[in-house]
Amino acid sequence: MGAVSESGTNRAFNLLTLPGDGIGSEIIDETLRVVAWFSDYLDVPIDIEHDIVGGASIDEHGVPITDAVVQKANCADAILFGAVGGPKWDGLPRAARPEMGILRLRKELDLFANLRPAVNFPEIVAASSLRPELVESIDIMIVRESTSGVYFGEPRGIETNEKGMRRAVDTQAYDEAEIARVCRAAFEIARRRGGRLCSVDKANVMETGALWRTIATEIGQDNADVELSHMYADNCAMQLLREPKQFDVIVTDNLFGDILSDEAAALSGSLGLLPSATLHMADPERPKRALYEPIHGSAPDIVGKGIANPLASILSFGMCLNYSLRNSAAADLLTQAVRRVLAQGFRTADIAAAGEKAVTGSEMTDSILAALNELAEDSPRMMEA
Ligand code: IPM
Ligand code: MG
Repeated sequence: MGAVSESGTNRAFNLLTLPGDGIGSEIIDETLRVVAWFSDYLDVPIDIEHDIVGGASIDEHGVPITDAVVQKANCADAILFGAVGGPKWDGLPRAARPEMGILRLRKELDLFANLRPAVNFPEIVAASSLRPELVESIDIMIVRESTSGVYFGEPRGIETNEKGMRRAVDTQAYDEAEIARVCRAAFEIARRRGGRLCSVDKANVMETGALWRTIATEIGQDNADVELSHMYADNCAMQLLREPKQFDVIVTDNLFGDILSDEAAALSGSLGLLPSATLHMADPERPKRALYEPIHGSAPDIVGKGIANPLASILSFGMCLNYSLRNSAAADLLTQAVRRVLAQGFRTADIAAAGEKAVTGSEMTDSILAALNELAEDSPRMMEA
């Protein structure tokens, strides 16, 4: 298939990798082996460019991301992002920190819909801190607004007030268009899954929450085939632990989505398994710009040991197959390969139970490639989406 250009001819798919810091380059290197496998299997030419972001960019250029990299990202069909940050840069003021690299990309590429699945792979249900019967086969999709809210609201800053005290201000602000577009995207996603959407806010105490609920309800009227419910964010945090299976799709603002998606990720048993996609999703069928990254961070404590779990990053490429290359069959094939190697007992250190042998990140990728080869032999080639 390949990306079809305006003129209708096939052109190469442009993939930009931004490994970032810590284990970022280890997991992206492993993921690129899987990218190469699919490029070959699907017969899609994929042009890969690499660049730097986060602490790596601070060291090289003095800023967490350069204008040139933002520009490159803006032109790419998709970005594979690793992770940013580490103790080396912890002392920097907020605006100069590695994290600003990803925040600037989200903002400037207008990647407003951050999709964070929380699924439990039955093969490793024991790795969850919750009882197996609670988390077995959970399949939740959190849609987090990612270009606005308190992360970007103005005014913000730390000032000294008239009493000589330091005073910090952040602003939570949303306009109705920002709420509406992420809600629309979430309804569309819910329609293709279980047909249920829970909109999460603090409408009882926040003005932004009240507007959020009003707009979600309005958009719901145009999407009456999807069952819409509302929940306060604090209750949602509790319900995720009490009865996670009640959720299908959750849509919420930037800050609540940050917190709730980490909580939901923990249900799965390992952050090392969960991917994410951050999309400019005007038309959910064809995100124009898209960034794919694991949910986990740069894990400075295990850098260079070769033991980082590449699966979250590999599954992020799976989301790229689904949303950017629009080949859900290929994405399913990759998920099947992951489940097969987990069922075969392959475990990286983060998901190995006490006493279980752990494989390295690159051994894990070897086993994924072997599983892909086996699965591909069993099923006909899927040249077309
Ligand atoms: C995330 C991270 C980021 C966020 C950080 C790294 C800025 O926690 O993607 O969830 O808060 O959005
Ligand atoms: Mg987070």
